[in-house]
Amino acid sequence: MAATPTAPQSAGELSFRPGLEGVPATHSAICDIDGQQGLLTYRGYSVEDLANHSTFLETVYLLIWGELPDADQLAEFEHEVQMHRRVSFRIRDMMKCFPASGHPMDALQSSAASLGLFYSRRALDDPQYIYQAVVRLIAKIPTMVAAFQLIRKGQDPIQPRDDLPFSSNFLYMLTERAPDPLAAQIFDACLILHAEHSLNASTFSARVTASTLTDPYAVVASAVGTLAGPLHGGANEYVLAMLEEIGSEDQVEPWLDRAIAAKQKIMGFGHREYKVKDPRAVILQQLAKQLFDTFGDDPLYDLARKLEAAAAERLGPKGIYPNVDFYSGLVYRKLGIAEDLFTPIFAIARTAGWLAHWKEQLGANRIYRPSQIYTGSTGRAWLPVQSR
Ligand code: SDX
Repeated sequence: MAATPTAPQSAGELSFRPGLEGVPATHSAICDIDGQQGLLTYRGYSVEDLANHSTFLETVYLLIWGELPDADQLAEFEHEVQMHRRVSFRIRDMMKCFPASGHPMDALQSSAASLGLFYSRRALDDPQYIYQAVVRLIAKIPTMVAAFQLIRKGQDPIQPRDDLPFSSNFLYMLTERAPDPLAAQIFDACLILHAEHSLNASTFSARVTASTLTDPYAVVASAVGTLAGPLHGGANEYVLAMLEEIGSEDQVEPWLDRAIAAKQKIMGFGHREYKVKDPRAVILQQLAKQLFDTFGDDPLYDLARKLEAAAAERLGPKGIYPNVDFYSGLVYRKLGIAEDLFTPIFAIARTAGWLAHWKEQLGANRIYRPSQIYTGSTGRAWLPVQSR
């Protein structure tokens, strides 16, 4: 149950907001959200323009260095990422010791943190070090996600293919076959849509961790752990199960009325910032439709549309609409991706945003250490155990 702000009792309580709702925790030039209008921009470019015209790697470059790369910069960045996709056999062997029943987000958090063992040199004030760390993490996180998928099936991971671009190569390593170009293009747009979102919980974790001047691998591992929660990145995994539980369009309204009466959070709906439909959900819905028109329907799509309409009637007045997680799972399922990989894919994309905030935090760092309002006991007399 979320804490509700109580009437302020002191100066400290004047500024206390549960979950830091509405409290600025940094200055940032990376991403802007207009939650009332449903607008999202990365470094001043609309997410619609980027999803329609850019690529994920070009968007990564924009987010981290603040400008769209020129042709040479883009070619070099793409080449560097391509050359660093492979992961040490030691990390692959470590992943083979993980239980196959473990969640892929736990495997990713462990393997992301282990990169710090292999790249232990730390030079946070060296732009070349920052460039290398960005290349390594952007390149290796997808390889580690795909590797655990093969390993937990009892297979050897597939080595990256240098002739395939970023998203095609990831889908190849994951599904063991090169994807249809349209499928790869739609997947790449999904990564752009998930790449950054200002100071969400996992990005806040990244900034707090970065502010201690630890290494970028620990920063990303900290953010991965935060993203895994069902109230944050983990919701996309639960949306399909929710739709399958509803089962048919005639069950949508009775199911929704029961859920609301039980004060159940509807997965894929609601947002701290957006009080209208998440602009990413608008685009993801279009991408889902494009996939289904090309590769065949998914009955859950029509059911999702019915749920969205019913929820708009009941929850719309409270500003609760579909968020980024509502349609993404339908896209990934059509691409043949297992449901518990939806959040690791979210992490592949959001590594861009986490690293952009890591770099920005280093540029004007002060370690995060907020205060608290103490509500515990005071002046208690010690009692030996035999007297308690
Ligand atoms: C992401 O922050 C980001 O930017 C995150 C993200 C990103 O790109 O990084 O956008 C990614 O995390 C998307 C959100 C994915 N999570 C879900 O879909 C889980 C379901 N959503 C909710 O848990 C909720 O909407 C949150 C966590 C997303 C936001 O919660 P808030 O802002 O803390 O709102 P709240 O829980 O205080 O709820 C306010 C009111 C409550 O009603 P009352 O008690 O005031 O009557 O709105 C209701 C809530 O019950 N509410 C919902 C609801 N979300 C809020 N009611 C039903 N279903 C929901 N989904």
